[in-house]
Amino acid sequence: MVPADGLPLMLGLDLGTTGAKAGVVDTSGRVLATGFEAYATRTPRPGWAEQDPGDWWAATAAAIRGAIGSSGARADDIRGVGVSGQMHGSVFLDSDLEVVSPCIIWCDQRASAQCERIMRDVGEGALAELVGNRALPGFTAPKILWLRECEPAAFARVSHIMLPKDYINLKLSGALGTDASDASGTLLFDIRERAWSQGMLDRLEIERELLPEVRESPQRLGSITAEAAAATGLAAGTPLAAGGADNACGAIGMGVVGESFIAVSTGSSGTVLAPTGAPRVDERMLLHSFCHAVPDTWYLMGVMLSAGLSLRWFRDELGEPEAGEAARTGRDSYELLDETASLAPAGCEGLLFLPYLTGERTPYPDPDARGVLFGIDLTKTRAHVVRAVMEGVVFGLADSVSLMREAGVDTRSAVSGGGGSRSALWRGMQADIFGIPIAAAGEPDSAMLGTALLGGVAGGVFADVAEACASAVHNGEALEPDPLTHDAYLSSYDTYRRLYPALRPVWSHEERPER
Ligand code: XUL
Repeated sequence: MVPADGLPLMLGLDLGTTGAKAGVVDTSGRVLATGFEAYATRTPRPGWAEQDPGDWWAATAAAIRGAIGSSGARADDIRGVGVSGQMHGSVFLDSDLEVVSPCIIWCDQRASAQCERIMRDVGEGALAELVGNRALPGFTAPKILWLRECEPAAFARVSHIMLPKDYINLKLSGALGTDASDASGTLLFDIRERAWSQGMLDRLEIERELLPEVRESPQRLGSITAEAAAATGLAAGTPLAAGGADNACGAIGMGVVGESFIAVSTGSSGTVLAPTGAPRVDERMLLHSFCHAVPDTWYLMGVMLSAGLSLRWFRDELGEPEAGEAARTGRDSYELLDETASLAPAGCEGLLFLPYLTGERTPYPDPDARGVLFGIDLTKTRAHVVRAVMEGVVFGLADSVSLMREAGVDTRSAVSGGGGSRSALWRGMQADIFGIPIAAAGEPDSAMLGTALLGGVAGGVFADVAEACASAVHNGEALEPDPLTHDAYLSSYDTYRRLYPALRPVWSHEERPER
């Protein structure tokens, strides 16, 4: 799609778990072109997940070049750039801004001992008061403690700690900074004051000087440097927004900025996000409490660690037939998996999948949890298994919806975004299992769109996020749940909910008998 010359455009870059996606967007939310470049995750030990910030930057530059190149846009017409990123990752840089050690990403579970210690020494009450969240291995602070304790020589070289998208912003603009939505996921941030928590920093003995200044997401962080312009094809001097956490930016891309809708997102992780007009901390802190990428707005969020990751695991390990057909016909293997899953009935005749492939966060903060296929008998086929994987992910998301309902959140309408929302079958399962109408996000790459809009605000194209959403977010018609299918799913969900508590003693090391 070729843009009309001179009309303002924006560029959004989402630094995801599997790769960087860039999109050139106009003020009506039309995506003129995208560029995608993948990078690798290393798992040197079970439960670990690391990425190389240098790989992110190479992928970012290629994705932006690809998007601008295929859009036919002139770099000068891009009035603002915004970056969103996977949350919680620990980027450690030395005083020359060089990477000290690989980024420990959001689904890494190595820091569980550090979390147990924070929960014990700081205590739930102080955590709720200081940072509004419990300590989880995915969060940044326990990873900082891990590096300090397990790799002291590397830690001694660290002068700057930041989140993944902040590293990209540094490469794009030379500016050091973060934003309130991403800072919220460090466990070092006072979500009520939208500022670093000195109380928490003192308790964990982390120096404030290691952390960047905090802005609000739509504020301007800086401008594209000449060097970054040469690498990406952007124009030097283009305004760059502070940007935000992928979930917060995804919610903006779905127009979920106020209390009337919840956002359900299925990327590698799966999230259920509900904006709140004031900071709210869930009583048991099973839901995360974070700052939105919209000033003066917060959100509650449930996170399952392996949503799209579960289906990707099936595709890579058991999806040979679909992969073969995709190679022969050029069709997408996920589309073919949908067709296979449709051969099995809703509820999979009792086959259930627990999607805890990398441990879990909501509702079970348990790094030791593992995936389970339950209810296999001789009548079950591959179609049952792939459908059970998809349903299991939605049951996991339903656990977060249930917690939201218990917390009094209005969950009567939802918007579904993220890569998984491209599947009508998966979206339909969400409507039927949650029992609420679900609209498809107008743009499934909702974080990319949301962060492009932040770039638009920083570049003066829009006055604020609300104006940007009114102009550029156009979600689809809501899909109504089918009452009969909903009832059928209720009994499967009841069994699903009983499986984790029954199995926990089996995989929990605390209760493993001594040999
Ligand atoms: C949210 C979380 C994930 C990542 C995925 O708390 O850890 O959703 O942001 O990119």
